[in-house]
Amino acid sequence: MILIIKNGKIINADNSIKADVMCRDGKIIRISENLIPDSKHDKVIDASGCYVLPGGIDPHVHMHLPSFAGFSSDDFLSGSVAALFGGTTSIIDFVTPQKGETLSDAIEKRKLEAKNSLTNYSLHVSPIEWRNTLEDEIKNCIGIGLKSFKVYMAYKDRVGLNDDVLLKVMKAVGNEGGMVTVHCELGDDIEELRNKFASENKLSPEYHLLSRPARLEAGAVKKAIDLAKEADCPLYIVHVSTKQSLRYISAAQKKGQKVMAETCPQYLLLDDSKYYGDFDNVAPFVMSPPLRKKEDMKALWEGISNGTIQTIGTDHCPFTNKQKENGKYDFRKIPNGAGGVEHRLALIYTYGVLTGKISLNQFVALTSTNTAKIFDLFPSKGIIAEGSDADIVVWNPEKENIISAKTHHQNCDNNIYEGLYTFGDPEYVICNGEIAVENAKRFCGMKRGKLIKRK
Ligand code: URP
Ligand code: ZN
Repeated sequence: MILIIKNGKIINADNSIKADVMCRDGKIIRISENLIPDSKHDKVIDASGCYVLPGGIDPHVHMHLPSFAGFSSDDFLSGSVAALFGGTTSIIDFVTPQKGETLSDAIEKRKLEAKNSLTNYSLHVSPIEWRNTLEDEIKNCIGIGLKSFKVYMAYKDRVGLNDDVLLKVMKAVGNEGGMVTVHCELGDDIEELRNKFASENKLSPEYHLLSRPARLEAGAVKKAIDLAKEADCPLYIVHVSTKQSLRYISAAQKKGQKVMAETCPQYLLLDDSKYYGDFDNVAPFVMSPPLRKKEDMKALWEGISNGTIQTIGTDHCPFTNKQKENGKYDFRKIPNGAGGVEHRLALIYTYGVLTGKISLNQFVALTSTNTAKIFDLFPSKGIIAEGSDADIVVWNPEKENIISAKTHHQNCDNNIYEGLYTFGDPEYVICNGEIAVENAKRFCGMKRGKLIKRK
């Protein structure tokens, strides 16, 4: 079947043009003015008044993530449905091995879980320990197109790495031509603070915030930058949330070091006042790093508009109210994480584009193109161009919504953006050439997504 999107305005990261888009067999085959369907069987979408965007790519999601309170509440099926409703057609999740398990065994297991995804997907691989074979294992991952490696400086009891191992991993990844992505928080100092608060019987959720201060993120960012320089390894820092972290990142970029930064809507839009109140109201906001101060939010918006930050992911990792209750009497037992995969585009469009902080082209760069370029999905993804994959969002700028757990598609009974207004929403979402969401609400995309081949 041929699909033609007519009368819309195509927005790419570097240009905007009024033209029609023709798709066949999952690819964009023609872009031109006034394309005429030549068979009555062709499907035509009228995109008058709409923007035609490359499908969103979320570089940071955790579907079905194991935790001490059970799995995060969206699995690959429910999470990918939510993603599609929000205009995201590709996600990058994670492979986290058990101790002693090889990266390739862990990848095979994770692929089985991810195959239910209705969006396209790829995986970052997490080395959680050093062993003699690790460099070969990393090389094998790169050979099969999994070229980004996520390491944690926090959570030392489970997955976090000490500095000496972090350096070895960075050297190995750098040698093999991959990229390291880092969760930057100084784990030992955080553990000390957590234990100190617990010993003083300070166990309510605000101590989650107080045990993870901004300086411990910024200190970790500085250390990761120094280690990556020594290792000669490209570095991508996930969920940057503080002003001081950005200063270190910007200084390294100015010196020519390959350092890239991601932030998330929650760090741009919500502040740390959310940690004060009743357990039930506060627990949904328990995530790492925690929400920060208004001045950090302002600095992040500046970092987005001046290009210090290249991507916006969500760190989508929802837990239900019942799961959050696991830590009712001890903040250390609240599972960390919150959902958001469904709202990324609408939030950034509303609070970024419509407030004049970023242009429409930057919106596309931040939510799709830059991720595609950084993680080797470009130009198959991240652009509306002839020959690219037909992952397309027909964006209706007139749509208004109020975010609520009662109406969202994420499998969770809380939503950290509850009550926020958004303007703009996908009218149609096309994934691999098939219409997945029609007329903003009808879901018709039960075809599975594809494991993305990264060059
Ligand atoms: O709180 C968060 N971010 N949960 C997800 C797991 C992680 O730390 O990335
Ligand atoms: Zn994460």
